[in-house]
Amino acid sequence: MNSLRPALRQLHPYSLRPETARVRLNRNESPFDWPQEWKQALLERVQERAWNRYPEFVPRSLVSALARRWNWPEEGIAVGNGSNELLQALILATLEPGRSVLTVEPTFVLYALQARVAGAQVLIETLGTDLRYDAVHLGERLRATGATVLFLCSPNNPTGSWIDPDDIAELARRAPDTLIVIDEAYGEFAKRTVLELRPRPTNLAVLKTFSKAGSLAGLRIGYLCASREIVRAVVQVKMPYSVNFFSMLAAERAIEGRELLEQQVKILISERERLRTAMESMTGVRVYPSQANFLLFEVDDAQRVFRALLDNEVLVRDVSGGHPILSRSLRVTIGRPEENDLFLGALRQTMEEK
Ligand SMILES: Cc1ncc(COP(=O)(O)O)c(C=O)c1O
Repeated sequence: MNSLRPALRQLHPYSLRPETARVRLNRNESPFDWPQEWKQALLERVQERAWNRYPEFVPRSLVSALARRWNWPEEGIAVGNGSNELLQALILATLEPGRSVLTVEPTFVLYALQARVAGAQVLIETLGTDLRYDAVHLGERLRATGATVLFLCSPNNPTGSWIDPDDIAELARRAPDTLIVIDEAYGEFAKRTVLELRPRPTNLAVLKTFSKAGSLAGLRIGYLCASREIVRAVVQVKMPYSVNFFSMLAAERAIEGRELLEQQVKILISERERLRTAMESMTGVRVYPSQANFLLFEVDDAQRVFRALLDNEVLVRDVSGGHPILSRSLRVTIGRPEENDLFLGALRQTMEEK
């Protein structure tokens, strides 16, 4: 059968080992499930609605709620089946053979993978000292390459590093013909969001999601904030009706219940700093600062530590095979305080056994 594209053979698919454990800190999910009353009220609304009818073509009330939440024009917002769907749509709308995309390493692997699937050339800049973003250097590379799209994840998965929104504004200003895509999947855990920038750069596209701080990873809903022109192109290439009405209603409920979700974010941020301090004091562990709901840390033998943690029913993410810079690295998602204690206890024990 010759129908499959030969280029796909060269690409590593996105996958996740199916390990499981009592304490799962490997997928950067929120450890807090929704309150039962929220779920119940949502189920009642879903039950009242006709299931034989398609959802709204454009989810008007959700888009208005998002527009109010972020002070962003409604016509500059698109909703998708997880932010990943909108990432793919942005790629479809911008990239083709002969065009190039600039991104960094290490970062979320889907940018390079999906850009290559689209036949675009992928240019990579390695993160700077201590895995930090170097905005000046990125600007120079952007100018030198004339890339069609720049993909940055901030806070960055898996490093936790962050790029200042003012630096992004400067990049956008200096490269007016490049689309600057900022993936803020973890934006709620950071100090600031690029959505606050004024004036709003017209060549900026911001990907956001309800999967992390919204505790809705299972319902697959994300959104894009960009200019009207970019949103129109994304809607043109995206599948119609990709978001079901259940997820739309849930997202609206999440915005209404922002106060609770923000309290949970505060807990996770304070837990993140507690974990970081505790890990810093362990011999043989180097932990990186993070603006996200996870921490990247280095140990001598990442695979041994990963296995030893799993033997103690704690599952973290082994990112050591992802990039040479990460050859000694693991990533731990911040969980509930008691889960974090179990992780710390298991890590301490593992490091002492060495
Ligand atoms: C950087 C980044 N972007 C996007 C996503 C996925 O977002 P969604 O669930 O909205 O598709 C993830 C999930 O891990 C992520 O790490």
